[in-house]
Amino acid sequence: MTNQTKEIARRRTFGIVAHPDAGKTTLTEKLLLFGGAIQVAGAVKSNKIKKSTTSDFMEIERQRGISVATSVMAFDYAEKKINILDTPGHKDFAEDTYRTLTAVDSVIVVIDVAKGVEEQTEKLVEVCRMRKTPVIVFINKMDRPGKEAFDLLDEVEQKLKLPCTPLSWPIGMGERFKGVYNIFEQRLVLFRPDNKQGRPEETIEFDDLADPELDQLVGEDAAEELRSEVEMINEVYPTFKREEYLDQTISPVFFGSAVNNFGVKELLDCFVQIAPEPRPRNAEERDVLPNEDKFSGFVFKIHANMDPRHRDRIAFLRICSGTFERNTNYLHVRQGRKMKFANPTSFMAARKEVVDEAFAGDVVGLYDSGNFKIGDTLTEGEELHFKGIPSFSPEQFRRVYNGDPLKSKQLAKGIDQLMDEGVAQLFTRDVDNAQIIGCVGALQFDVIQYRLEHEYGATVKYEPINLHKALWVTANSNEELQAFKERRRQHIGHDKEGRLVYLADSAWTLQMARDNHPDIRFHETSEL
Ligand code: G4P
Repeated sequence: MTNQTKEIARRRTFGIVAHPDAGKTTLTEKLLLFGGAIQVAGAVKSNKIKKSTTSDFMEIERQRGISVATSVMAFDYAEKKINILDTPGHKDFAEDTYRTLTAVDSVIVVIDVAKGVEEQTEKLVEVCRMRKTPVIVFINKMDRPGKEAFDLLDEVEQKLKLPCTPLSWPIGMGERFKGVYNIFEQRLVLFRPDNKQGRPEETIEFDDLADPELDQLVGEDAAEELRSEVEMINEVYPTFKREEYLDQTISPVFFGSAVNNFGVKELLDCFVQIAPEPRPRNAEERDVLPNEDKFSGFVFKIHANMDPRHRDRIAFLRICSGTFERNTNYLHVRQGRKMKFANPTSFMAARKEVVDEAFAGDVVGLYDSGNFKIGDTLTEGEELHFKGIPSFSPEQFRRVYNGDPLKSKQLAKGIDQLMDEGVAQLFTRDVDNAQIIGCVGALQFDVIQYRLEHEYGATVKYEPINLHKALWVTANSNEELQAFKERRRQHIGHDKEGRLVYLADSAWTLQMARDNHPDIRFHETSEL
């Protein structure tokens, strides 16, 4: 086996998806503790933007700093190299999260036991389902009173549309939480509420729940309840099979309490056994396998430098195949030219390191002075275009004006670069050349205004514009498209790449357009 084959086979690259406050940051931190990537709890700062601080730009800046450091967190555990890709939980940054999901091979979904499946999680899991990404579910905060375990499994199946099977099972909850029975490995794990620093849990091998010792360990009532519930699980839920998890026909479920570091090791131990190795990626030209000889990768995220004196940015590249090497010439496919990188960076929790080589499954940060856009591909020479890094139809719009005529160049450059970073999308309406910025979440407008001012010295002014949606349009024939453009002239525009866009001012006009032009296709994402 070559070194490359070995290295790729031990990569596990995943993202944690959760509604804000479900415990994603806490779980990430505990996983890093197990991996030895950090030594004490509290080392990973929460990178969420709390609701109360949405207009506090210093806070946004601070959070941006943290989120560079936590974009990728890598550590070794059980001979595997684990890469956790951070996904912002705040809904205004959902697009960023969608794109990050294109760079992972599997996902862990965290659900708050009291809240159950929440809206943000539903949307994100839908993206995972579309992409057939294997999902493990972790039900968190078992030390608090919450919903019944069986009801939660029903919610996962109904709201997330994920057929599931529990691999651990809680014994009580809230104040009566005694621990979990690990169905996967037939062990009893007893709960100790003050275990914040990750001491080994008290686990007891327990393959026969009929053993009266169970009554002594957890009390008679809880023991009886556990026996009957596990019996029911065996009857109702399918036996776990790894192949079914890998092709997303089943999602295993774990229960625990991240803040108490309980059930996290169970989750991690199972994860390293079952989670997929780097998976093939589809390019427009062909499928790309991880263990090919030649390197390829794509940019899924771009992060502006925190230091305003340096305009450079970090482009995050997911390696799809082969081995990436420092100081080696690679083809930037869109620009059709060779580039090499002197300081590719890997991320080990808060530590950044220059890497000499990285393998399929890894993410490297490339310093970039404005050459990259989201979705760009690097290869050893082949013209590949990876699929599945879409822009989403935005739902919030503002018309933009230049607030300072002396700074129009700076404004144009700033907007151009922020759009390449994927902060928002720029549309131009054909009839009046109106420049329109569209975002998924309204907070982005504040971020854009602030960053244009602080990083580019430009002033942008917004005006409300009556728009409901911007949808990409295609048709089978050019004539149909021309006819549509003629009839809907007022609503036609282009995105930054020059693709045709229908700017609908209401749900009603959109419906009319659909009804009157049955041959025109309206797309919610730019990936047509
Ligand atoms: P997020 O990244 O998904 O937004 O959630 P985060 O980990 O920041 O957790 C949100 C809150 O839930 C935090 O409390 C955290 O301590 C708490 N939490 C996480 N896991 C558990 C658990 O298993 N049990 C209980 N009871 N609470 C848990 P906070 O008050 O918002 O912040 P902090 O001051 O405690 O950090």
